[in-house]
Amino acid sequence: MKIAVLGAGRVGSTIGRLWHAAGHDVTFAARHATRPRALAAELGERAHAASVAGAVAGAEVVLVAVPGPAVTGALQAAGPLDGRIVIDAANWLVRGVFGQQQLSLRSLADAFPRARWVRAFNSLSVGVMADDNHREPPWVLFVSGDQEAKPAVAHLIRDAGFDPVDLGGIDDSQLQDPGSALWTYTLTRDEATALVARIKSGDAAAADPLTAPFEKFRDHAPDDPAFFLEHLSRAVFEAGIWQVVQDKWDGIREAFHGFDPAQVAAMTPAEIAATENDARVIRNKAKIRATVQNAREVLAVLDSYGSIRAYLASFPDAHAASADMRRRFKFLGDTGVWRLLISAARDTGG
Ligand SMILES: NC(=O)c1ccc[n+]([C@@H]2O[C@H](COP(=O)([O-])OP(=O)(O)OC[C@H]3O[C@@H](n4cnc5c(N)ncnc54)[C@H](OP(=O)(O)O)[C@@H]3O)[C@@H](O)[C@H]2O)c1
Repeated sequence: MKIAVLGAGRVGSTIGRLWHAAGHDVTFAARHATRPRALAAELGERAHAASVAGAVAGAEVVLVAVPGPAVTGALQAAGPLDGRIVIDAANWLVRGVFGQQQLSLRSLADAFPRARWVRAFNSLSVGVMADDNHREPPWVLFVSGDQEAKPAVAHLIRDAGFDPVDLGGIDDSQLQDPGSALWTYTLTRDEATALVARIKSGDAAAADPLTAPFEKFRDHAPDDPAFFLEHLSRAVFEAGIWQVVQDKWDGIREAFHGFDPAQVAAMTPAEIAATENDARVIRNKAKIRATVQNAREVLAVLDSYGSIRAYLASFPDAHAASADMRRRFKFLGDTGVWRLLISAARDTGG
């Protein structure tokens, strides 16, 4: 197929490379020509760079992989979309914070009615997309109101090495919006399919973004309390700066004794002061002190409940657990609890 990839950043380059490897003809476009040209040169035959309008003019399928706020402008620059399948992979996510402005697929279809709209790939992180050592192919959600576009897009998702999960029609796109129950890749395909069925049957709790990661973590929490303290501390450090933290995490883990709660709780004022000046760590005194205080609270939880799993199992639902965690632990707000649960759930077997 002839595919235009609008956006030559992390997502556009990753999916474009995968489609090119599967034999498709891929044209990259962005506002600046440098990255599209570099990708075309890297991939060689069947890979091209063009302007946005030029790429779309020659394409049967268009992948939109630009930042959410740039989508409308990019599509206006694209010229006629008549009859083309347009796959929107964009999210309104500015510095890791969810925007309220995520465009529904319906509103995009209203604004650009001549395209055949699909939303796909927006719920899968590019780290997972680019990792070719999966135990099983990652599942990719897609929604569309166009019954003929659906099989073509499912085919393209498979060509990229992923497993398509049809989430529904044009009015279902909010189910895979940032922050939704299905948005992050914490579930196996079977768990995701079961969750889709629960949501579609009208189970309101299932659609809640805290519930699935909470239930998975509660049911499979490892015995090691350091696992809990590490994910808790990561949520604390990530507040506001999650991308920076991602890069520094190995150093932070070392500085905090592998998150062994007893060792962190026993850190002396001198050791805490040294950590505050440790270049491996995000040097935020409030977060460092919160981590030590939280380790003490983890020990208190272990004292009262015996294990993290028993602590989690003591709550009737995710929201009660979340309220208790926000009360007990320092520097942990709503987003922090959500991050803690999704990263812990992702790392538990299940
Ligand atoms: N990163 C993830 O894990 C992930 C996963 C799923 C979905 N998404 C979504 O996918 C989209 C792309 O994410 P990304 O991580 O690939 O971002 P990125 O690395 O910042 O790349 C964005 C690309 O869009 C281009 N661009 C920006 N404005 C444009 C415009 N008006 N017209 C044409 N091209 C434009 C940029 O190049 P120029 O500046 O040269 O134009 C760049 O090539 C975002 O909406 C993001 O939310 C991201």
